[in-house]
Amino acid sequence: MKIIGTGSSLPAKTVTNDMLASFLDTSDEWITERTGIKTRRLITTETLIDMGADAAKKAINMSGIDVKDIDYIICSNVANNFVTPAMSCMVEGLVGADCPCFDLNGACAGFLFALDMADGLLKTGRAHNILIVCAEEPSKFCNWEARDTTILFGDGAGAVVVTRGDDHVLSIKMSTKSKYESLYYQRKMELTPYDQGTELYNPLVMDGRDVFRMAVSASTRDIDYVMNEANLSPSDITYYLLHQANLRIIESIRKHLDQPIEKFPTNLERYGNTSSASMVILMDEMIRDGRIKRGDLLMLSAFGAGFVSGACAMRY
Ligand code: COA
Repeated sequence: MKIIGTGSSLPAKTVTNDMLASFLDTSDEWITERTGIKTRRLITTETLIDMGADAAKKAINMSGIDVKDIDYIICSNVANNFVTPAMSCMVEGLVGADCPCFDLNGACAGFLFALDMADGLLKTGRAHNILIVCAEEPSKFCNWEARDTTILFGDGAGAVVVTRGDDHVLSIKMSTKSKYESLYYQRKMELTPYDQGTELYNPLVMDGRDVFRMAVSASTRDIDYVMNEANLSPSDITYYLLHQANLRIIESIRKHLDQPIEKFPTNLERYGNTSSASMVILMDEMIRDGRIKRGDLLMLSAFGAGFVSGACAMRY
């Protein structure tokens, strides 16, 4: 598998920490010190599906392939306004593709799950070109009267086109350790004449400290595993593209690997945590501004609700 195109799309509205502090009991100092986040982009008039299609079109354009040569579209999305059809079906129409499509929900590690699926489809020969779109609007899961989660998230979309290529994926490892209580969002379903049910709706519930601990231990474990399997040492890696959740989580992983800070690029200070889109948006920015070059060794690592996590060593 080889990445031949990337794209991203962000909402126009920038929301600063001070803007949040005008209606929540928080401050720019607290958010900056505990998370590293300064601003985030939040959806106002855009739709997530349009943003996903916009990112996809940019990735297809960079790849140089004909849209009709896309053999599969995989969308990574936790939730959006449409429960069905899948977001990938709608993106297909907007980009003008003609291929099977499906969505997956791998929470904030969704991009890595999608890469793993794509790698498998390419290896079996079932597909030559696959479009992966990660589009997320976590701002719509939060309770906007609570300060614990709203400060963390931003909305955005990122996309990649992958094709069959020499062994660019050196190792990939995904994990799930079921533990939903630490991070979950329950949305409303319709009542039926037979189930007048108990109210199961809950905006995002998070035990921040627990998630922090699980994130650091899962990421360091996954990275060590992948590094070992690919016979790499930490200094071989050009960039560690880590899930953009919290600067202190990234710093803990960096300390474990004992590598210089320049190898750990971030954009969370501008965009917050955009769930599965975060790593793709970062990768797209770095490819477009020339920081990531062909031949660079990338270590991707992400974690999220589930509790899911994964890492992937790949040559760009
Ligand atoms: N503004 C000001 N104070 C806040 C606050 C906010 N937005 N949120 C919490 N606090 C308060 C708490 O009430 C607590 O006060 P207390 O000491 O009087 O009880 C204090 O700040 C410390 O809270 P704590 O939860 O221990 O802070 P923390 O250092 O763990 O930081 C997170 C909180 C959420 C930033 C951090 O735990 C984190 O990032 N966890 C991972 C979350 C994540 O990445 N989720 C997505 C995964 S995909």
